[in-house]
Parts: sequence; structure tokens; C-alpha cells
Amino acid sequence: MTTPTLHIAGIAGSLRTGSYNGQLLAELARLAPAGVEIEVLSLRGVPLYDGDEEAAHGVPEAVTRLKDRVAAADGLLLVTPEYNSGMPGVFKNAIDWMSRPASDLARVFGNKPTALTGITPGQGGTIASQTAWAPVQRALGMLVWPGPRLFLSGAGKAFDGDGKLADEATRKRVGDFIAGFAGFVARMRGEG
Ligand code: FNR
Repeated sequence: MTTPTLHIAGIAGSLRTGSYNGQLLAELARLAPAGVEIEVLSLRGVPLYDGDEEAAHGVPEAVTRLKDRVAAADGLLLVTPEYNSGMPGVFKNAIDWMSRPASDLARVFGNKPTALTGITPGQGGTIASQTAWAPVQRALGMLVWPGPRLFLSGAGKAFDGDGKLADEATRKRVGDFIAGFAGFVARMRGEG
């Protein structure tokens, strides 16, 4: 009997080509246990939220696509940078768009098993950003994984030339994190 594939949607909250958080998401996908597929979604093409635009034309196509991919996934993995002790506007803006219309919120985020991590060049490891996300996750009705949080710092030296995590101990922490979250997603899907 083959094990059913768990499907997790992953979003890194940066548009930067060499984003450390984008690289971390790629490593989370690579280090995920067998039977767990992480689909990397991009924030590119999401405009700034504008209520007039929504009233006139509804939710933009790039946002609808993101919403549908998240709605179809068994779990959601958010990989957040930290800006000025909070989350980047570009990431919050996309999530805000994805929460529209409010009547569609439950379909996209409601009870969605969700994990959050992030990486910074400095020492804080996105602790302030992850803390800032907590009330947002609650407002959206996400089912937040209560497992150990993962704060990664020293991003400038964390990845080798191929975008892989250079340090074995960090690879293990990242692998343990995604395995723990995948176990939670499986349990919530009724397979654990
Ligand atoms: C930052 N950065 C940052 N880092 C941090 O640890 N705490 C912070 O409060 C801030 N504040 C901040 C504000 C602004 C406007 C910028 C542009 C940057 C540094 C940030 O962690 C760094 O640029 C990361 O490389 C951003 O993530 P990506 O794009 O590499 O994924």
C-alpha cells in the first residue's frame, strides 16, 4: 500500500531573488519526509490591497490562484522575514488580499494546519516577526501547530553556493521542524 502524499503549501514572504527565507523554504521542501510534498507559492504579481479595486473588480487573479492553492493544501507553511520587529508589508499585504472576501476566509485559512518559521542575518532569528504573526493567524482562524518554534539567524553564512544549508546541525533542526509539522498535518487529516 502506498502512503498518501501530504500536500503542504509554502510561502516565503520576500520578493528578493536571493531571499534567505526563499532559500529556507526550498530547504524545508528538500528536507521534508518522504510522502510530504511542499508546493512553493510566490507572492510575485500580488498588487497592493485597494478596497476600491476590490469593489470594482474583485480579487485579482494572482490572489485567487494563491487562495485556491492554499485551500487545496493539507497544510500551510509560512516562512517570514523580519522587518522593523514585525512582518514585511509585502507578506502581510498578500495574506490580507487572500483573506478577501471575508465570506471565503474559512475555505482558505479556516482550521488550516499552519506552521511559521523564518531566518534573519542578525541574531533575533525572526522572533519579533513570528510573534507579530500570532494575532493574524488567530484572526484568520488558522490551526497553528503548537510544536517547537524555529528561529534561524546568521543567514549570511547559513547557505552554501547551491542554496543548501551549510551546517549539519541546522539541517537537522530544519528537518526535525518540517517532520514535526508534517506529523501534525497528518494527524489533523486523520492519518496520524
Ligand atoms: C530588515 N532586517 C531586519 N532584520 C531583523 O532581524 N530585524 C529587523 O527588525 C529587521 N528590520 C529590517 C527592516 C527593513 C526595512 C529591511 C529591508 C530589512 C533585515 C532582514 O532580516 C534582511 O534584509 C533579510 O535578508 C530579509 O529577508 P529575505 O529577503 O532575505 O528573505
